[in-house]
Amino acid sequence: MNSPQHPDTLESAFYGLEKTEYRHFTVIPRTPVIGGVIEGGDFENMTDDFAEDLRDALWKFGVLFGLGRNLSFDAMKNVSLIFGDRLEEHSFAPTLKEQGHPEVTVIERSKSDGENKLDVDFWHHDVSARAHPNIMSILQADVVPFGADTMWSSATAAYDLLPEGLKLLFENITVDHDTLYTVLRHNFGGGDITPEKIAMLQEKATHPAVIRHHATGAPCLFVANGYIKRVSGYDVDLSELVIKLANQLPIIPELQVRHQWCPGDFAIWDNFATCHYGVSGHIGAQHRRLYRTAAWSESVKPEPFIRPR
Ligand SMILES: [Fe+2]
Repeated sequence: MNSPQHPDTLESAFYGLEKTEYRHFTVIPRTPVIGGVIEGGDFENMTDDFAEDLRDALWKFGVLFGLGRNLSFDAMKNVSLIFGDRLEEHSFAPTLKEQGHPEVTVIERSKSDGENKLDVDFWHHDVSARAHPNIMSILQADVVPFGADTMWSSATAAYDLLPEGLKLLFENITVDHDTLYTVLRHNFGGGDITPEKIAMLQEKATHPAVIRHHATGAPCLFVANGYIKRVSGYDVDLSELVIKLANQLPIIPELQVRHQWCPGDFAIWDNFATCHYGVSGHIGAQHRRLYRTAAWSESVKPEPFIRPR
């Protein structure tokens, strides 16, 4: 597999993604920096060369969309296992365990939930408070109201945009992630997800602020604020300042792609090289249901990026 060459200048942060023909499918870029739509390919009957090309495409585009593809749960799991050897079983979100699919997380808001229901309207890398966060996730839309978009932002382009002084700063700090902070700081709407239950999970980890992507070697700014507790060892006020600096990066429009979901669409994302944000401010109590699977590996965890000298 040819890994994409990583740019090392500010100008080249705009990667110039181009339409790419793979053996079983084609990827059409959504922006010059991040995101592409997959056309063609049989996800229900994947071969080894399909899997190899899908890995290459995900590392290159960061997030891949399939329009109206309606993947089966088995296909979602098989796609996930292309990227990691373990399927995620979510620690607190509902799953399809009763239906025989404990690895399928259900992201649902029903009309009866009202507006106080789990929102993910904050930039995050999924489950970053684990020692081995997900390598990727795939989200399959079932019921999607108008306005419930998802946004992704490139964490590699974010690093590239940092001036040299800030690159050095972030390369030399680690960050404490804690799932309890997510629940305390964001709108999880009560229900089963209580701070007391989450506290018992003790789901916390310390990761470098700039990680070396395990497949491409590219530096990724791994500081989306979803699970962030503190810059390790920093006074809390200084920590908040540094985290705020980092969180100015994902909001830069040139680093983003936004997907307006239609039923049947899927998105696969690189959970290290991108972070994401669930736009939910306007959907109120409308019904929304998506399914997610994700993969991780014992052998893959966020390692520090050490710049070649
Ligand atoms: Fe997420």
